[in-house]
Amino acid sequence: MTEPPLTIAILHPGRMGAALATVLTAPERRLLCCLEGRSEATRQRAHDGGLISVPMRQLANEADIALSIVEPAVAYPVAMDLVTAGFHGLLIEANAIRPQALRAIADRVHAGGGQVVDASIMGPPPARNLPQPTRLYLSGPTSGVDVATTLFTAQELRTTVLGEDLGQASALKLAHSTVHKAGRALALLGHALAQEHGLSSELAEEMSRWSHPASNPEQFPSVASRSWRWGDELREAAEELHDSGLPSELVVHAAALFDLLADFKGASPTSEEIFNALNRHGPDMDSVG
Ligand SMILES: NC(=O)c1ccc[n+]([C@@H]2O[C@H](COP(=O)([O-])OP(=O)(O)OC[C@H]3O[C@@H](n4cnc5c(N)ncnc54)[C@H](OP(=O)(O)O)[C@@H]3O)[C@@H](O)[C@H]2O)c1
Repeated sequence: MTEPPLTIAILHPGRMGAALATVLTAPERRLLCCLEGRSEATRQRAHDGGLISVPMRQLANEADIALSIVEPAVAYPVAMDLVTAGFHGLLIEANAIRPQALRAIADRVHAGGGQVVDASIMGPPPARNLPQPTRLYLSGPTSGVDVATTLFTAQELRTTVLGEDLGQASALKLAHSTVHKAGRALALLGHALAQEHGLSSELAEEMSRWSHPASNPEQFPSVASRSWRWGDELREAAEELHDSGLPSELVVHAAALFDLLADFKGASPTSEEIFNALNRHGPDMDSVG
């Protein structure tokens, strides 16, 4: 007797969801979505990807696996729509949300008889022509993670299992976002200031010599040992940003962060000592701004 096809629901076929649907497509799989309330762009992507649109109740009852990949603000209501409609399969929760939020979703899915795998995605939507694969990180109970791993075997996606804790994949995403997105905010600010002075290409050229410390944590002891003077340097920068009409708060907060490390002047602290010093959330950090 032939096996029934595996049914996978894509919630929802945005740019990332539709690209993941493409790498999940296989003859023995049925890909569902629910287009009620979705935009024309999402409808077009679903059509192009050959997804079958069904009402949410049918999707929830027929899907063995659901993949949630939407904007973070709607991750919880999207999961609740699924649970309320009767889903009791495996939810791969791939949104950029806090571990705590992920676990709140998992509690509701478990109560409905389903299972959850925590997932996070780094890089652009997977595609054949990209120089490197998009990265998919998974965590959670082994039974669910193993199922998820067997789904994502396309070479456009590199899958890594982090561990058995629901929340690890989400935490990695937010640590990555802290550097990657907040770093871009600082790049925008620096360039806005440089442009004020006609120095954009000089800043770009100077930054091209820099290797980002987030990929070289062995630099942190040296960073910490010089932090005592970087607070003042950044307060100068913040005033210049402010006088140029640019937002200065990020840089004021960065200055306050370096102040927390001022005691490491001339020292060679371990990463653990540095992170412990950063964990002192006191009134100093709350009152800057
Ligand atoms: N794109 C990337 O490069 C990238 C990279 C890494 C990770 N990610 C992750 O992927 C997530 C989605 O990114 P994306 O680029 O695919 O965004 P997107 O193209 O804007 O897709 C978001 C999808 O969610 C749907 N949606 C929005 N609000 C909804 C709601 N209230 N109920 C149900 N569906 C809703 C959208 O439908 P409508 O079209 O109807 O609004 C759309 O189909 C991101 O938040 C991020 O966590 C993306």
